[in-house]
Amino acid sequence: MVRVAVTGGAGFIGSHIAVHLARLGYRVVAVDSLERATGFERLEEAGVPLVRADLRHDDLPDADVVVHAAAYIDVAESWERPYEYMWNNAAVTAKVAKRAAERGAHLIYISSAAVYGEPEYLPIDERHPTKPKSPYGLSKLVGEQIAEMLTKKLTVARLFNVYGPGQSGPYSGVITKFIQRAKQGKPPVIFGDGEQTRDFIHVEDVARFVAVTVEKGATGVYNVGTGIAVSIRKLADIVMKIFKIEGTVRYAPPRPGDIKHSVAEISRAFSLGWKPQIALEDGLRKLIDI
Ligand code: UD1
Repeated sequence: MVRVAVTGGAGFIGSHIAVHLARLGYRVVAVDSLERATGFERLEEAGVPLVRADLRHDDLPDADVVVHAAAYIDVAESWERPYEYMWNNAAVTAKVAKRAAERGAHLIYISSAAVYGEPEYLPIDERHPTKPKSPYGLSKLVGEQIAEMLTKKLTVARLFNVYGPGQSGPYSGVITKFIQRAKQGKPPVIFGDGEQTRDFIHVEDVARFVAVTVEKGATGVYNVGTGIAVSIRKLADIVMKIFKIEGTVRYAPPRPGDIKHSVAEISRAFSLGWKPQIALEDGLRKLIDI
């Protein structure tokens, strides 16, 4: 039986990946420091074992496939704590990649669209220059590069804006923030004019993508998004409609360092036989009861 270790396995994205792979019959172990874990219950419900390990200090359990999803993810925080971001995201990836290579394991590195920085053209394909605009984006890019240096059995999944059940707490994206306010009957707060666009991908579609790469042993760099650009203003309208929120959207100053537009070109991921299955409105509706 194929053994899979998912680092950050008790986190938002990692826990969805771990549970999905376990349901497909892989022997999955989640590895997590529990520093910022939000997906602990999901693992428990699905019976996925958890190894408590901080990869900055501890070793990785043995496995045939390593999904490396452990990372700090907050762009703003990365300006305050650049050293911690480079250590936790980039340096730890060096350790994970070296151990994976020594064991002949397939490494799937969960990277980010943040490696591209301000787009030079849209949609963004995998050949787009990588010029990150934040220490966070740089830490993910250096992670990619050191992994490429250390192992050939590597898949790099550059995730666009991921949302879904279990994203919570201070380190969550715009959809979770809008929904948290909607649940209190409050309209969204938009930073800037709301004309900025993002490509929102449901976390279960991300988990399905990872499963395809595991199953096919597919290596290389892949964008993981939907290919659909949605403005933040449109997102606010949809959330207000679904949650039947009265009143008007509030506007606040633009967030420093934000990119304006982001949308993925996804034909490479398509070529593996994967495609996103959850439309944004459906994905949002599913979050109402949670
Ligand atoms: C997100 C991820 C990052 C990932 C990247 C990939 C989070 C916290 N960050 O960054 O890890 O690598 O996508 O593309 O998930 N906004 C509002 N109101 C709010 C919150 C946000 O208007 O209450 C706006 C922001 O100013 C921004 C847009 O919504 O323009 C998206 O913001 P956010 O969800 O934080 O994601 P990214 O910065 O794109």
